[in-house]
Amino acid sequence: ALPAGVESLIAQMTVQEKAGQLTLMAAAWAGGAATALNPAGAAANFDGQLEEARRGRLTGVFNGNGAVMAKRMQTVAMREARLKVPLLFAADIIHGFRTVFPVPLAEAGSFDLDLARRTARAAGAEAAASGIDWTFAPMVDIARDQRWGRGVEGAGEDVLLGRLMADARVRGFQGSKGLAAPDAVAACAKHFAAYGAGEAGLDYNSVDVSERTLRDVYFPPFQAALTAGVPTVMASFNEIAGVPATANPWLLTEVLHDEWKFDGLVVSDYTGDEELIAHGFAADAREATRLAFLAGVDMSMQSGFYIKHLPDLVAKGEVPMARLDQAVRRVLALKVALGLFDDPFRRIDARREKTQVRTKALLALAREAGSKSIVMLKNDGDLLPLARSGKRIALIGPFAQGQHDLVGPWNVYGTDAEAVDLLTGVREAVKDAAMVTATDGSGIDAPLPGGIDAAVAAAQAADVVVLAIGESQRMSGEAQSRSDIVVPAAQQALAAAVIATGKPVVVLLSTGRGLALSGPVLDAPAILVTWFLGSEAGRSIADVLFGIMAPSARLPVSFPHATGQQPYHYAHKSTGRPNGPGPLTEYKAHYREFANDALFPFGHGLTYGKISYGALDLGGGQLAADGMLTLSATVTNSGTRAAEEVVQLYVQDVTASITRPVRELKAFRKVALKPGQSQVVRFTVRRADLLFVGRDLQPTVEPGRFRVWIAPSAQAEGVAGEFTLA
Ligand code: IFM
Repeated sequence: ALPAGVESLIAQMTVQEKAGQLTLMAAAWAGGAATALNPAGAAANFDGQLEEARRGRLTGVFNGNGAVMAKRMQTVAMREARLKVPLLFAADIIHGFRTVFPVPLAEAGSFDLDLARRTARAAGAEAAASGIDWTFAPMVDIARDQRWGRGVEGAGEDVLLGRLMADARVRGFQGSKGLAAPDAVAACAKHFAAYGAGEAGLDYNSVDVSERTLRDVYFPPFQAALTAGVPTVMASFNEIAGVPATANPWLLTEVLHDEWKFDGLVVSDYTGDEELIAHGFAADAREATRLAFLAGVDMSMQSGFYIKHLPDLVAKGEVPMARLDQAVRRVLALKVALGLFDDPFRRIDARREKTQVRTKALLALAREAGSKSIVMLKNDGDLLPLARSGKRIALIGPFAQGQHDLVGPWNVYGTDAEAVDLLTGVREAVKDAAMVTATDGSGIDAPLPGGIDAAVAAAQAADVVVLAIGESQRMSGEAQSRSDIVVPAAQQALAAAVIATGKPVVVLLSTGRGLALSGPVLDAPAILVTWFLGSEAGRSIADVLFGIMAPSARLPVSFPHATGQQPYHYAHKSTGRPNGPGPLTEYKAHYREFANDALFPFGHGLTYGKISYGALDLGGGQLAADGMLTLSATVTNSGTRAAEEVVQLYVQDVTASITRPVRELKAFRKVALKPGQSQVVRFTVRRADLLFVGRDLQPTVEPGRFRVWIAPSAQAEGVAGEFTLA
């Protein structure tokens, strides 16, 4: 229940003021880092927006810039508006605020839930110090098609990792002291639902997946976010089986509120309600408003449709007043929870904004998170780690130097200009900075005149080459689908020339998605996936290159052989003709060119240790219906360097009334192993871990055989066995 004072405000509101509480607009604040990413806001007129606030026609703004402007606006709302309802300041704090952490996909690869919680906490507190109350994060969409550019904002292809990361990030943003804490921000689970399942990996495209797949794959991270206490959900742009999510009562009301008992608010995505017209679902703005609002979108972002059309729709009886009041109550409940009715200025503090951003501690966390997100795909001949002295190092490639492509996509407030590039990080790490040279060699998309010659000369003059190539940060993120997920051709030519020099080459891959690698890039002896690591990128990479930190991340998405395999994910079904040994050699589910597996699978990542798996113990191999089974394996580091291994437990339900994936991740443990150390890693399996969505669309478990793997990736054999569920 809302406090009596807030209830009485609702009673005093005109229908227009109620619609105002449901209207969120991009901040019309020119100036600052946010402007470039918020042209709609920059182009608008700040005085006009102040007037909207004064007239109670606005619930708040998003992606504005800074405490000074927020204070001006909140002052108008609190002093000059009739009912003095505090405004809400929202922003896309996706992977950091002024301090930028690795892109969420990269950080998911750390398989380190505490790290994800800590960076979200830090980002939330840093944003709150600048006046932000509400973040449009985490993005919890499962992404199984690497052509889709927005996978970079989520946790990758796996349901378990997606659930756990959703939980960690919501808890991190919101903190543990309650949403009213001045350093807490409210989280928003987005985009509901199945935004990552757009046909052909095309952003915004139609989705047509079964209800079973929604419940099995796409819903669980949202349910995890709800369990973690997320108070808001954003509707997705896409349609599902002909009904746009933004106007889908089944999704937004029946599932979310009635079934899952969510009592928070649903916000549309940017002009999502307006887009119902382009979808061919609503004839005009008025109908779009009615359909979205009655389906369950409480707050409209950016179209202005609610303030324009809800009053008339209510007046004509097409929208019940009770629904209007319900939505207003949800919005005001969020403002109450955030403490805004007690002190509307609790997060607007220009002094905190100056002292609590980009602190030493925040940058240290960014550096740590960066190193912990790097995945080592290959390390032939133990080329890595590099020695910090005695070697001439040539950094080559468009990502070798310069303040660009460091912070990654969808970062509204942090800038590349404030981030550490590779050259700086490497020069700081080595004993003699003069031993390190940097040459671009190529542009990101196009060759540089004379670039390859310069790069070859630099390689020849060096003992080792670090080849920094990949995607620009504009190649992933919103609206950045790619039809061919390869390293751009100009850079492949650069790689071929550099590798042909015969010098040892370490490839660093900047990317916001799983890439299909081939040719010289793939043949390089060592490959590190360095994603977009944020404010301290260059130092994070140098820490791993020189063994100051050991690589400890694993792929959160499969890297395929070729784009044509997309959508590819490890937890696919077997088919009636699985690829592999047996009769009908040719008539199998494979491509002419390669098996339908991953080039580098989900979960893969090497360490500087030498890890082996042995001694699987199936704990008797019988799981009673109400019991538990302890499965264990001994994991050994027989190398000479310390390592962190992500030990993964996969299960296959061999026969069921609904076919099940060939493998599903059920648990993982990240264990630190000193040189020569062995550890028994134990997992507990209960019946509840084996649930799936049955024929009646209810969670079910069926007795029978289960294959099990304790393994270093979704494709590795590790140690395998079988147990039976009674
Ligand atoms: O939060 C985002 C969303 O993820 C994509 N469209 C714009 C929103 C607000 O910036």
